[in-house]
Order: sequence, then C-alpha cells, then structure tokens
Amino acid sequence: MHPDTRVLHAGYPAGPGPYLPGPTFAATYVAPGDPAQHAYTYGRFHNPTWTAWETALAELDGGHAIAFGSGMAAVSAVFGVVLSPGDVVVMPTDCYYTTRVLARDWLAKLGIETRLAPTRGNAQLEHLKGARLLWLETPSNPALEVCDIALLARAAAEQGCLVAVDNTTATGLLQQPLALGAALTVASDTKALTGHADVTLGHVSVADPDLAVRLRTWRTQHGAIPAPMEVWLAHRSLATLPLRQERQCGTALALATLLEARGDISRVYYPGLPGHPGHEIARRQMRAFGSVLSFDLDTEPRAERFLKRLRLVREATSFGSVHSSAERRARWGGDAVSPGFIRFSVGVEHPQDLQRDVTQALDAAG
Ligand SMILES: Cc1ncc(COP(=O)(O)O)c(C=O)c1O
Repeated sequence: MHPDTRVLHAGYPAGPGPYLPGPTFAATYVAPGDPAQHAYTYGRFHNPTWTAWETALAELDGGHAIAFGSGMAAVSAVFGVVLSPGDVVVMPTDCYYTTRVLARDWLAKLGIETRLAPTRGNAQLEHLKGARLLWLETPSNPALEVCDIALLARAAAEQGCLVAVDNTTATGLLQQPLALGAALTVASDTKALTGHADVTLGHVSVADPDLAVRLRTWRTQHGAIPAPMEVWLAHRSLATLPLRQERQCGTALALATLLEARGDISRVYYPGLPGHPGHEIARRQMRAFGSVLSFDLDTEPRAERFLKRLRLVREATSFGSVHSSAERRARWGGDAVSPGFIRFSVGVEHPQDLQRDVTQALDAAG
C-alpha cells in the first residue's frame, strides 16, 4: 500500500463501530486481582487512545513508537535512556535550541560530554570516536541545513555509536530515518505531523523492541505522558498529513523560488532549491522538502516591517500548521542567525494568495 493510504488507516480498528473510537479519559481502570491480567490498570502506565496513536506512529515510522506529552519530553527520554555518566554525545551546533540547552545544562551535570559540529557537510563525522550517541536534525531548525543520515549512520555503526534523528521538520511521511540506519527517530508532533497548532505532543520510534520497553518505562517513571484528548486530536489530524504536506511542500518550493528570484533578499534557505548545499542529499533521502523555509532580511527593522505588513500570515513561533506563520528568529536568542532572519512556516492557503501577501509585505518593507 502507498504510505499515504497507510497513514489514513493507521491505528484505526478493523471491526464495526466508529472509525476512530473517542478518547478514553481514565486515571484508573477497574482491574481487580493480578495486574498482569489487565491490559489497562492506571492512567500513567497506559491508555487505549495512546495505543491506537502509537500503532499509527509505528506504522508511519516503521518501528515501535512511544508517545510523549511534548517533543522535549521525547528528546529527554532518548537522552535519559541511551546516555550514562562518562558517555559522549555528538550534537549539531545548529539543531533546535532547547535540545542544545538540555545538553549544556543537564547532560553536563550528569558527566556526559557534548561535542558540537555543524549539520552542513556531515561535519559531525569527524567527532564520532568513542561517542555513544550521534544526534542529527535534518533539515535543521531554523536554518534548514541537511546531512546524510545513511552515511552518518554507517560511520556511527563502525564506532558502536547509536544514531537518533530529530525528524520534526520532515515528519515520517517525508523522511524515514529508521530505514536509513538510525536506531531512533524523534519528533515534536506539535508541528507538521499534527498540523493544526492545537496540541503539544512528541514521540520516539525505534527499531529495537528492548529499547522501546526502556523508553516506555522512562515515560511511566518520569510521568512524561500525553493527555488522551490531545492524542485523539492528533490521531484525527494524521489522516490529512499527506494532503497537507503535498500542498504545503509545493507552496513552500514555489515561495522559496519566488523569494530567490527577487534579487533583494540576501539568502533563502530551503533544501528544495537546487543551489542549497544539501539539495542532492535531501533529494535522495526525502520525499519532498518540507513546509518550512527561512530567509534573511538582514536587519531587525526591515524584518519587523515585513512581519507587520503581512495580512494572511500570522506572526507566531512554531511551524507546520495549516495556517501560515512567520517570525523573526533572533527575537528569542540562542540561534546563530542575523537580526533579520525570518523563519516562515507555509500553510495550506492557496499558493497565489500566499505569494501575493508575501510579495506586498516585502515590497512595503523596502
Ligand atoms: C526540531 C525540534 N525538535 C524538538 C522541538 C521541541 O518540541 P516541543 O515544543 O513539542 O516540546 C522543537 C520545537 O520547536 C523543534 O523545532
């Protein structure tokens, strides 16, 4: 079956009844006697709404999936389960800011060394000796740099090092890290996977069932659980992922091309552009190039003028929603970007409306 059809049906029960049974709200379950005789006993351990969602995620990613209450809960679980004091983790200098902060503030305290190298040019290859975990994020947030997952996974395997890929910007529909040799794929499902900017969720998928058990145990012990209503909404939204992605990726490529052609934008960052340094790799390992693009308006005043002139596009952080949004990334600090760097999340608006809005805002911004 085509992945688009699989996603539509993933985790839905086969029998009669509703297509997708409603959320189960339960802190506890009536479950007398031997707990092992019951599928569900207590709300922090398991929930049928999670089970259906995880079945869907497992099918999407081609592994065993564990759902978490946010992307960072998923990231923390991977660090907590895979790394021990004395270990080394190799991370991108340009991955999502909070993941780097977690390494700096928390892993360091546990005696875990973090080595940083850029995503571009597979620069992390040079730092693998003696490492326990190689953390990749491709395309990276916010500069959309790309690395070669299969190449890095082969090199890591030679060093006995596990590879985890933050697959948030691509989603499992566009990129399959486990099939490319990663041991773990992680995502903030707050973003494109669920696509409506109305839930915070995350998940980890792994090929190894023992690793899945350890991640599930971490979730139970740390209480990093998702709420059933959010999970149900997410599962409902997953059905339209292929449709959303088709529209969003198509519009993103057209918009990136338009921005590059203007001649008044110093740099456009989108792996779908032939001039992008990771374009050939992205073409090989991604089905499409994603719904996020970035561009540089050089200065804060110009970028602010642009954001204020947009009519259709909301100024908001996060990305992947059906509604387009944009923000000046430097307002947060933490990323090595210019004061005029804009991260733009392309929604499902009609491409011409979006192009018109961006064009008039750029013209007005000067
Ligand atoms: C690439 C990436 N990974 C992880 C996260 C963290 O996800 P969450 O905000 O759902 O905790 C984000 C959030 O922006 C992200 O962009």
